[in-house]
Amino acid sequence: MSFPNHRPRRLRTTPAMRRLTAENRLAPADLILPAFIREGLSEPNPIASMPGVVQHTTETLKRAASEAVELGVGGIMLFGIPAKRDAEGTASLDPDGVLNKAIRDVRAEVGDDLVVMSDVCLDEFTDHGHCGVLDANGYVDNDATLDIYARMAVAQADAGAHVLGPSGMMDGQVGVIRQALEDAGHVNTAVIAYAAKYASAFYGPFREAVDSQLKGDRRTYQMDAANRREAIQEVELDLAEGADMVMVKPAMSYLDILRDVAEMSPVPVAAYQISGEYAMIEAAAGNGWIDRRAAITESVLGIRRAGANMVLTYWASELAGWLKDA
Ligand code: PBG
Repeated sequence: MSFPNHRPRRLRTTPAMRRLTAENRLAPADLILPAFIREGLSEPNPIASMPGVVQHTTETLKRAASEAVELGVGGIMLFGIPAKRDAEGTASLDPDGVLNKAIRDVRAEVGDDLVVMSDVCLDEFTDHGHCGVLDANGYVDNDATLDIYARMAVAQADAGAHVLGPSGMMDGQVGVIRQALEDAGHVNTAVIAYAAKYASAFYGPFREAVDSQLKGDRRTYQMDAANRREAIQEVELDLAEGADMVMVKPAMSYLDILRDVAEMSPVPVAAYQISGEYAMIEAAAGNGWIDRRAAITESVLGIRRAGANMVLTYWASELAGWLKDA
């Protein structure tokens, strides 16, 4: 009688056996919740293209942060939407501006029980929607933007952010931010570098989430989807400039990049499951085409398996709740 020498199915026979032999596991502590706060709102404002996600008021943001703590979520990443915008994004530097105030409010709520991260980027604050300031030709001026990032970073650290997330893809941004933090005495404020951030169609719903005024695209500063090798260079530069953690973004269409970075990075690696990834799964699930909970869980597990130590996902708190119950 012939028989298979190996029967991999033995380890799949029961849920307990599958659980025991699972190579990767999701944990609430590895999840980071991105959250939006909009200046001057009296009620949270639903984001149509991201069902279940809102622009927060101060009160609902504080509630979401304390809920994340209770669920064991690892961190929160804050984005602010100011009431007034201008060409230089000056509202980003105001200590009482929407984002800096939100950082202070969330820190007052959660203390050190949740890692509080904030976005260091100008796109929410500029009236043209670009991540930096423009020169006379409308080109995003790298070095003039760096100067503003450095001051923005210090303002966010003053407000109490544990970790700063420069997401604008300006060359040298991690270095100038690190230097400015050291000069200001914020030696323990960490930097999570959006190291390999690609120009992606999947950011679409985020533009609604932050009421973006952007016309055109970000292809002169974000990476080209065709490129793999270049991601390693971006990560190496950010590490040399002092990044404490590095990120790959988006996640699901860039799992090969994530694997490459995970294999070479000596520091923790994050992946950002972005707005369009969220919207796709919600839309398919909303139509009854896929099992929502199973699809969400599988998508985040796939990102972890590809090599992310931590995952920024709009489902962080909901997923953490499922993991707690399981
Ligand atoms: C830029 C920024 C963006 C996102 C996070 N930070 C938008 C962009 O680069 O166009 C996208 C996040 C998402 O789509 O969920 N500050």
